[in-house]
Amino acid sequence: MVDVILGLQWGDEGKGKIVDFFAKDYDVIARFQGGPNAGHTLYVNDKKVVLHQIPSGVFHAGTVNLIGNGVVLDPVVLKREMETVKSFGIDLQKNLFISERTHLILPTHRALDKAAELSKGNQKIGSTLKGIGPTYMDKTGRNGLRVGDLLDKNFTTAYIKLRLKHQRLLDNFNFHEDITSWEEEFFEAAEILKGMNIVNGEYFINNKIKEGKKVLAEGAQGSMLDIDFGTFPYVTSSNTISAGVSNGLGIAPQLINDVIGVTKAYCTRVGSGPFPTELDNELGESLRKTGNEFGATTGRPRRCGWIDLVALRYACMINGVTQIVMTKADVLDAFKELQVCTTYKINGKETTEVPFQMDRQKPEPVYQQFTGWNSNTDAAKDYAALPDRMKEYVKYINEYLGVNIHYISNGPGRDQLIKVF
Ligand code: GDP
Ligand code: IMO
Ligand code: MG
Repeated sequence: MVDVILGLQWGDEGKGKIVDFFAKDYDVIARFQGGPNAGHTLYVNDKKVVLHQIPSGVFHAGTVNLIGNGVVLDPVVLKREMETVKSFGIDLQKNLFISERTHLILPTHRALDKAAELSKGNQKIGSTLKGIGPTYMDKTGRNGLRVGDLLDKNFTTAYIKLRLKHQRLLDNFNFHEDITSWEEEFFEAAEILKGMNIVNGEYFINNKIKEGKKVLAEGAQGSMLDIDFGTFPYVTSSNTISAGVSNGLGIAPQLINDVIGVTKAYCTRVGSGPFPTELDNELGESLRKTGNEFGATTGRPRRCGWIDLVALRYACMINGVTQIVMTKADVLDAFKELQVCTTYKINGKETTEVPFQMDRQKPEPVYQQFTGWNSNTDAAKDYAALPDRMKEYVKYINEYLGVNIHYISNGPGRDQLIKVF
């Protein structure tokens, strides 16, 4: 049996915390896409940890964690992450497994990411510059190198061949940064990776399922950043939606049971691209401050705005969401009035559908206004303790989406999660 936790907006919905919370009920936690562009924050013994590639279940004894074939993996980032995780006394030799089919992010992929973004000028995607796009390009272009290739005696030859190809592309971009130190780091980290549990991920996970183990697939990014269904071209390069679980892990679709979608009580986006409910004003600034909305991977300030139910309903549809977790409800505590986007206006016409090209069609949000609950909720321990106005907000969202919010998160801490009755 397989359940999924994934983001319903433009990422950073709080997936890390939610996966960490649910992990105790599962045997295997698996990442199925994305790579070090992700930054998943959780608190272990009140200490903040940001994971990029290692699944967020890693701190639970008794879970095993798999980096699936759909992920793009940077050994250099992995080495750093492993050091952090090990400092908590976790034995990664026991509980971390990596698919041999996982594609490797090479130093030249990072250089290409940078070069491509520079060449786009003000049309840049706002990439995290971790090499994600170029690595997925080499995967679909059938050039990439995979974790399993590291164990082949001809790896260095294959690496040099691909590097030469990348060098020609970099020359075309007129990009001439010296990446020698990146390469040294890469080969050092690759040696460490070779000593990890490199497995055939699809047999590994299907055997676990056959044994009756419970699997939780952990999404990175968010549905509106999906390569097919997001706000293209301002998206990431993988399928972030539930369908990505099948090809990112080798799990048949009918094995997927619950799809748990995570949304903030408002909305954020980091990087460029359309964001209809963005508040480019004091209110947005206030959300950023209260919600501490700065990128977990890049430190960039996140753009903030009201919750967008048009985009959320779309995300529920393409993912087949069965339950919702609403995070950061406490961030709205101080707001006297709240807005909820229910409709888009495009060229004077109202629609409740996400259009083909948001950046050209420029939807204007139409809002339903709510009176804020205007009280502190971060200490609440159960649903009864939450203000009625928050319950009205939740009820409205449930009815609009046709899917219910099952949990409300009221702070970053592990214990700040309330089950909705
Ligand atoms: P992810 O990428 O989806 O895992 O989310 P990030 O870790 O990038 O960003 C979420 C941020 O919000 C982190 O700093 C979390 O510690 C924090 N956070 C998560 N849930 C809550 C919540 O309910 N309230 C508040 N105030 N912060 C939260
Ligand atoms: P988590 O898993 C928020 C955004 C980048 C950029 C676009 C493409 O923490 O939610 P990429 O590096 O993938 O080529 O960047 O996607 N982006 C994210 N935004 N959270 C993330 O991950 C993101 N990963 C990528 O800011 O706009
Ligand atoms: Mg994040």
